[in-house]
Amino acid sequence: MDIKDRVIIVSGGASGLGAATCRLFAQRGAGGVGIVDLDDERGAALAAELGERACFARADISDAAAADAAVATIARRFGAVHFLVNCAAIGGPAKLIGRDGPIALEKFDRVIRINLYGTLHMLRAAVPRMLENAPAEDGERGVVVNVSSGSAYEGQVGQIAYAASKAALVGMTMPLARELGGQGVRVVTVAPGAFDTPIYEQAPPALAETIVRGAVFPKRMGRPEEFARFAAEIATNAMHNARTYRLDGGLMLPPG
Ligand SMILES: NC(=O)c1ccc[n+]([C@@H]2O[C@H](COP(=O)([O-])OP(=O)(O)OC[C@H]3O[C@@H](n4cnc5c(N)ncnc54)[C@H](O)[C@@H]3O)[C@@H](O)[C@H]2O)c1
Repeated sequence: MDIKDRVIIVSGGASGLGAATCRLFAQRGAGGVGIVDLDDERGAALAAELGERACFARADISDAAAADAAVATIARRFGAVHFLVNCAAIGGPAKLIGRDGPIALEKFDRVIRINLYGTLHMLRAAVPRMLENAPAEDGERGVVVNVSSGSAYEGQVGQIAYAASKAALVGMTMPLARELGGQGVRVVTVAPGAFDTPIYEQAPPALAETIVRGAVFPKRMGRPEEFARFAAEIATNAMHNARTYRLDGGLMLPPG
């Protein structure tokens, strides 16, 4: 589906991979770029940078009503929703047995509520709007890109919650694509390796160096624009559907 004049919603759009996606879709002529994020400061700054055709709607996507309201605001402003890129997530380190004993259930729940339920909440809010679109070429009405992680396959020690949430998105991809395919909505998941975003801000610099050593080539962090270009390729090429693609330079995450 062409990007020009169409409307994209990006959860987690205020930062990192999501922000790069908002910028690229704006450059390619999107008619509306809806940024859904918790981060008021970054969300408002990006909307101001992108101008008239961008809109920041603050929401904690773990709250279904807040996700509904944010999508409704964006759909009202731009008149439709064609693309949904679900980037919002948290890391939330979690070992089964920590210093204080078995993991607190609230800790596990929090990651699942944001990364898995949050994605579901955005899908519930946005997909019905895609189904209202007049069919474009091939009968296409919309495209969903969910963002998983290499951790879905090689989760590191301390990632039981994060890896479980990201593997759930991989599992959801095929049944969702099968369900929505007859109505012209495609669903694709991207599992990035290591990308240079604020998610690494709190980690020691040596961590990124250790991680990229596990790549085949290139042995560097991915750039957020490289993710955004892939999201645009998925959005515009109708043959991408029902799959999870790893975007990682052949990276194998070390055990941790
Ligand atoms: N950067 C990487 O190396 C990498 C690797 C694998 C997967 N990923 C995945 O890519 C996606 C984007 O990551 P990033 O690196 O750009 O991270 P980031 O931290 O730069 O951006 C994530 C954004 O999500 C927002 N967010 C967090 N919780 C939220 C909530 N409850 N409601 C609304 N917004 C919320 C944050 O405010 C932030 O703006 C995530 O799903 C992440 O798990 C990233």
